[in-house]
Amino acid sequence: MKIAIIGAGNVGRALATGWRKGGHDVTLGVRDPAGSRAVELKQQGFAIAAPRDAAAGAQVIVLAVPWGAARATIEGLGSLAGKIVIDAMNPLTPDFSLALGHSDSAGETVARLAPAARVVKAFNTTGANNMVDSRYGAGKLLMLVAGDDGEAKASVMSLANDLGFEAVDAGPLAMSRHLEPMAMVWIKLALVQKLGRNFGFALLRR
Ligand SMILES: NC(=O)c1ccc[n+]([C@@H]2O[C@H](COP(=O)([O-])OP(=O)(O)OC[C@H]3O[C@@H](n4cnc5c(N)ncnc54)[C@H](OP(=O)(O)O)[C@@H]3O)[C@@H](O)[C@H]2O)c1
Repeated sequence: MKIAIIGAGNVGRALATGWRKGGHDVTLGVRDPAGSRAVELKQQGFAIAAPRDAAAGAQVIVLAVPWGAARATIEGLGSLAGKIVIDAMNPLTPDFSLALGHSDSAGETVARLAPAARVVKAFNTTGANNMVDSRYGAGKLLMLVAGDDGEAKASVMSLANDLGFEAVDAGPLAMSRHLEPMAMVWIKLALVQKLGRNFGFALLRR
């Protein structure tokens, strides 16, 4: 698929690397496409463009920017009508609390900011390190995916499976209200409880 990833940070680069390996056509949308950081990324083989240009040619757009930059980023992307927009953001305050509480979510906010897009929440409940390498000895890591457009959600689940995750349909986009606090659990375990980053959630069945 033709994918634009907006934000070339930990998450953006991890997803771009995995999907390029999987044969997808990926462009990283960066704010300064002529800057030295962009030159470095190009030297590493990444396709680079300004966010608006990256989004214009893509079927799938991933938002991988800090929560505080969400509104300006979305407003700068131009028309997102009909496009699949993956919200990987967690709405964090600077002191690592949940910025929106439990009666709204980043996923739903993105849908309000881009009403014609097909918004899917995914890639927020595990660390970027697990997006770089999702392999653990004992089975696959879980990737919960939420959205209101079934076809868009199926495409995103397929993209998660391409990275080695077990994608599971978590329900409608409003489930972001639960997926974002779940990310807080991962973050707190990693940073406060000092588990480090080499763990993730999985689903056992019987
Ligand atoms: N890190 C994780 O393990 C993890 C896991 C799951 C979800 N998330 C979520 O994914 C999003 C990205 O996280 P990340 O760790 O990849 O962040 P990061 O390393 O800080 O990268 C964010 C990127 O966003 C771009 N950006 C655009 N507008 C910005 C602004 N106003 N201020 C700062 N950067 C801006 C920057 O790229 P350019 O300068 O090139 O434009 C920057 O490289 C966040 O919302 C985070 O909550 C993170």
